[in-house]
Amino acid sequence: MSAEFVTGFLLLVPAAAVVLDVNATVGQPWVILPCTLMTETPTRLEDLLLYWQDDRQHVLYSYKKGNEMPEHVNRRYRDRITAFPLGMTAGNISVKLKNSALEDEGRVFQAFAALYNSRGARRYSSDLREICQITLHVAVPYSSVSVAVNEEARTAVCTAQRGFPEASLRWRAQDLHNNSQCFIDPKDVKTTTVQNSQDRLYSLNSTINIPGGRYRSVSCLIHNPTLNVTDSDTYVLNKGERSLPDWPAGLTAAFVLLVSALQQLIRCGSS
Ligand SMILES: *[C@@H]1O[C@H](CO)[C@@H](O)[C@H](O)[C@H]1NC(C)=O
Ligand SMILES: *[C@@H]1O[C@H](CO)[C@@H](O)[C@H](O)[C@H]1NC(C)=O
Ligand SMILES: *[C@@H]1O[C@H](CO)[C@@H](O)[C@H](O)[C@H]1NC(C)=O
Ligand SMILES: *[C@@H]1O[C@H](CO)[C@@H](O)[C@H](O)[C@H]1NC(C)=O
Repeated sequence: MSAEFVTGFLLLVPAAAVVLDVNATVGQPWVILPCTLMTETPTRLEDLLLYWQDDRQHVLYSYKKGNEMPEHVNRRYRDRITAFPLGMTAGNISVKLKNSALEDEGRVFQAFAALYNSRGARRYSSDLREICQITLHVAVPYSSVSVAVNEEARTAVCTAQRGFPEASLRWRAQDLHNNSQCFIDPKDVKTTTVQNSQDRLYSLNSTINIPGGRYRSVSCLIHNPTLNVTDSDTYVLNKGERSLPDWPAGLTAAFVLLVSALQQLIRCGSS
């Protein structure tokens, strides 16, 4: 190997690939899989070899010496991937993935690149290196988070429909006398999670007892870990009339689990 081979190369490329998580929502028109190729000088596109592949070794995007190579792209990714050739000179080898779906959930995407040295009479190619490794998480927001109270049975029921991934659920109560807020102890909460076996979406149904004359209101909080979003509904007791909703019809239960809410900050005082 000549000195030219060495100096022409990616001296600034870190030995290990950059590992990142990217979170997206189903129905989002596109998501960027970000990746930067660190080079000392602007990249000559005629010297660049780049490809992206997934964990099944399906090629998403292929670029060689100034040209995109659509013939290398797996049919699953045809018309779903766009790169940014203008940014490539500056090392921006990100690609845009269109229409992320639940099918892409947990998929790992890797970008590999090499630079050719075209300055000398001969061409040398660098080792192909993994530059980035991106894990894609895809979420579906829960819809219609809702609390209903059965005043006679003194129970409150929270339901949330058709989200992904599995959410964590917590109940918060506001004290009737001093208005302070507290989280209800998970051992006093009964939550059932059902996953639809066809579309993989989860629905939740959670019940608590509400002792008379104790709470001003109760709130149900549903946290989607991928979106890092909490949806909630609050029921003000002794006000308004709401009936208990039916458990969603047409659910094909794949499995039913009991889950308890995660950590709680202030637990409600014991009765
Ligand atoms: C790469 O280019 C795209 C499109 O212009 C842009 O959205 C993205 O932020 C760029 N990424 C970096 C790391 O510059
Ligand atoms: C992205 O989703 C993963 C998987 O649910 C989660 O662990 C991570 O915290 C999320 N990242 C952000 C920034 O919300
Ligand atoms: C989730 O969002 C909260 C603020 O709403 C933030 O403090 C926290 O760091 C976020 N978690 C992740 C994993 O990004
Ligand atoms: C409010 O009252 C409840 C009992 O009704 C008690 O457990 C709780 O500690 C009180 N909170 C504050 C902040 O005083």
